[in-house]
Amino acid sequence: MTTNELTDTLFFGDNLSVMREHIPDECIDLIYLDPPYNSNADYNVLFEDESGRVAPSQLLAYEDTWHWGYESELALTYLLTDQSPCPEAGMLLDSLVRALGTNQMTAYLSMMTVRLCEMRRVLKQTGSIYVHCDPTASHYLKIMMDAIFGAEHYRNEIIWHYRASALTSAKNIYPRKHDTLLFYTKSSTWTFHRPRQDDVSEQMMRRWGRYLEDDGRTVLYGSIKHESNEEERSRKRIERRTGRVPQDDDVAFEIKPSRTRSVWTDIPEVRQSHKYKEWRGFQTQKPLKLLERIINASSNPGDIVLDPFCGCGTAIQAAQSTGRLWIGIDITHLAIGLVESRLAEVGVSPRIVGAPHDFGSAQELARRDPFQFESWAVTRLDGFRPNRVQRGDGGIDGRMHFPKPNGAGQRQIDTGVAIAQVKSGRWGVQDVRQLIGTMDDPSVSADLGVLIVMQPPSSRSHAPATAARAGIVRIDGHSYPRVQIWTVADYFDGRFPDLPIAFGREARRLL
Ligand SMILES: C[S@@+](CC[C@H](N)C(=O)[O-])C[C@H]1O[C@@H](n2cnc3c(N)ncnc32)[C@H](O)[C@@H]1O
Repeated sequence: MTTNELTDTLFFGDNLSVMREHIPDECIDLIYLDPPYNSNADYNVLFEDESGRVAPSQLLAYEDTWHWGYESELALTYLLTDQSPCPEAGMLLDSLVRALGTNQMTAYLSMMTVRLCEMRRVLKQTGSIYVHCDPTASHYLKIMMDAIFGAEHYRNEIIWHYRASALTSAKNIYPRKHDTLLFYTKSSTWTFHRPRQDDVSEQMMRRWGRYLEDDGRTVLYGSIKHESNEEERSRKRIERRTGRVPQDDDVAFEIKPSRTRSVWTDIPEVRQSHKYKEWRGFQTQKPLKLLERIINASSNPGDIVLDPFCGCGTAIQAAQSTGRLWIGIDITHLAIGLVESRLAEVGVSPRIVGAPHDFGSAQELARRDPFQFESWAVTRLDGFRPNRVQRGDGGIDGRMHFPKPNGAGQRQIDTGVAIAQVKSGRWGVQDVRQLIGTMDDPSVSADLGVLIVMQPPSSRSHAPATAARAGIVRIDGHSYPRVQIWTVADYFDGRFPDLPIAFGREARRLL
């Protein structure tokens, strides 16, 4: 793959094999990684001896926990062989395993070490890497980074002090309020544009009501009652800038940006609510502002940014909006689907490698990993979010919410619900009945349902007639079949079920 073919691409798969198979040496300018870590886990549990337990990596990505097993052993052995990309890292990992035992923590470190070695290989000589972690494992990751990148290439430990409520209810410890980012470079020459920030608290912005950016300067407008020379100067400034004569108590303050230091307190976490535009429903989602700061500081427009644990694609969106090229990798289709829809909102359709591209590869994914297949299938429908749990959601594999005008009363728009169920194997009329049952369940109360199936119904099947008998639903003057059956072959032939436009996708209607 040439660099051109490689960039603006999402890879669905394990980042270790994707990097090994697709990414050539020294072609990446900036790596940001935010590997999963269960920081809510009981710290002691991470050190419990569990030698002999084996868990496949697919399971690990969902559970966000690691177990010492075949893969950990394989990584350690490889790092100690003659072929090792970094013998120092192998020796360090070996010492940690001897000192701490085989437990979740050392399994995690083993998983990380092989991947960090691979990241060093793909990073340019002038490149930088930011490892986003938290105090659960940051101390071990730092010595591992010293071993892999060289202690002399350590640049900063950045503390991101988020504003979320504390991540613990325990009464006998200090509530946790920060993540740690380890910033290393590959050599002693690297790109760095010193970031600057406005030291304006949210409280101050609220107090001063208006917050304008003009000619690169930040100005707060507000009102105070007492007289001062500053007030006089401000009056003149307002008059000049706004062309209006200020009222008695109008004042403008110019805020002088200051250098960003290594403790970042000005970036709130993404709040878990649909009210926050940025929120994608992804538990470990990071704020765009955080990624924009890193990307602007440590790369130039046109550079290549790699996020090997891209989740819902915050780094990808930040790279895209700041004019960088990017590569994203994630092991779950849930994440890849979210990044895809996030980019679609800004008119970008990424190349996706590793996801099904024809009927045969869809069948292959369903065989290999039915849960990933479900996520992939559900996210083919515009606006649908896959279910995050494998069991226990009444057989619903995905949902979509859409505006449902009711034409009356004060609140003229209700929230409509469409659900999807996926059947990758044999299916029949009983699955249509089950879907209708789920839709009718008062706790679900879905307006529309789609049964996504691999194979079309046989000519003798009663499924299409049963679906048709579910009737039609009128939404905003349009009639939709209440239950629709949609096959994977339909998808590859470009045929889609008839569904209303999801919340947040209204802009597409206007295009
Ligand atoms: C903490 S989340 C990243 C969140 C991301 N920074 C964002 O803002 O959305 C970690 C992601 O790494 C993915 N992941 C875990 N192990 C992986 C692996 N071996 N290869 C690729 N992705 C992996 C998980 O599926 C998850 O989406």
